[in-house]
Amino acid sequence: MDSNKRPEDMQRITTKELADEFINQEVEKVRKQVGNKKVLLAISGGVDSSVVAALLVKAIGKNLVCIHVNHGLMRKGESEQVIEVFKNKLDANLIYIDATDRFLDKLAGVTDPETKRKIIGAEFIRVFEEEARKLTDIEFLAQGTIYPDILESDGVKAHHNVGGLPDDLKFELVEPVKLLFKDEVRVVGQALGLPYSMVQRQPFPGPGLGVRCLGAITRDRLHALREADAILREEFDKAGLTEKVWQFFTVVPDFRSTGVRNGKRVFDWPCIIRAVNTVDAMSATVPEIDYAILKKITDRILGEVYGICRVLYDLSPKGPATIEWE
Ligand code: XMP
Repeated sequence: MDSNKRPEDMQRITTKELADEFINQEVEKVRKQVGNKKVLLAISGGVDSSVVAALLVKAIGKNLVCIHVNHGLMRKGESEQVIEVFKNKLDANLIYIDATDRFLDKLAGVTDPETKRKIIGAEFIRVFEEEARKLTDIEFLAQGTIYPDILESDGVKAHHNVGGLPDDLKFELVEPVKLLFKDEVRVVGQALGLPYSMVQRQPFPGPGLGVRCLGAITRDRLHALREADAILREEFDKAGLTEKVWQFFTVVPDFRSTGVRNGKRVFDWPCIIRAVNTVDAMSATVPEIDYAILKKITDRILGEVYGICRVLYDLSPKGPATIEWE
């Protein structure tokens, strides 16, 4: 039987009971596969790797070694949440690497979006490899591969399209959720006790804020972008929009426009709000957001985020516009 093919009669996991049953089965399978050996896992803060981490902590406890690389392009509070959930709550064996400076130094002056993506992906592999080499007794690598990854891209997780680890660092793979669809992974995550915000997290590109801080990334503009994004998320949450809108974020382009603040002329960045609804991300529509909500977000960004003097709402559907700006 092809272990990468979902059996036709496999029941969809829609309830806590079904999730618990799946978890018990996978815990047994993982224990059988890895015995008392150690397993390495990169956790990004995304749904899939978080669910795999929680499942493996349940199965093998401290024999799971998690690495979280903060590339400096995470949204506000995300790395902190990874540490809080996995280190403090689940008592997982977590190595936290703040590689912000390495990534931002490599990205300095780089304007081409695909080059930025490649740099971020390649640097991620390099940091992970360095850490993996320090750990001498690991034979297994866990991955948050899910069924759409197998269907769409030959089982390769799409975050980092820059190849994988070098040949001398080959591990046996542990992929407990590889036959599940996204909605099922979320149900399993909830049954494992992961926080709602982590399990229901909207899609977030591997290169993170790196493709939303348009053009050459600078620390000050990245900071403004992150703060504006946090305000948008907070206000969407308060307005009950987080569950209703598929993906939403801010973008800060690399040009300035004139403004006036406290009677003085300023030359600051614009901030674009992007919100979309879609089924498969191939096409997308723009939700009608209540004007009062947009105004509140605008007032907060203009009042609280240094360096921004205009806020715009992107009304463009996909296509012709893509969801991300670059
Ligand atoms: P676009 O911009 O192509 O986005 O309409 C479609 C979906 O893909 C996400 N996206 C990415 N995800 N690495 C990722 O892991 C990337 O480089 C990347 N670029 C876009 C985007 O956020 C949206 O959900």
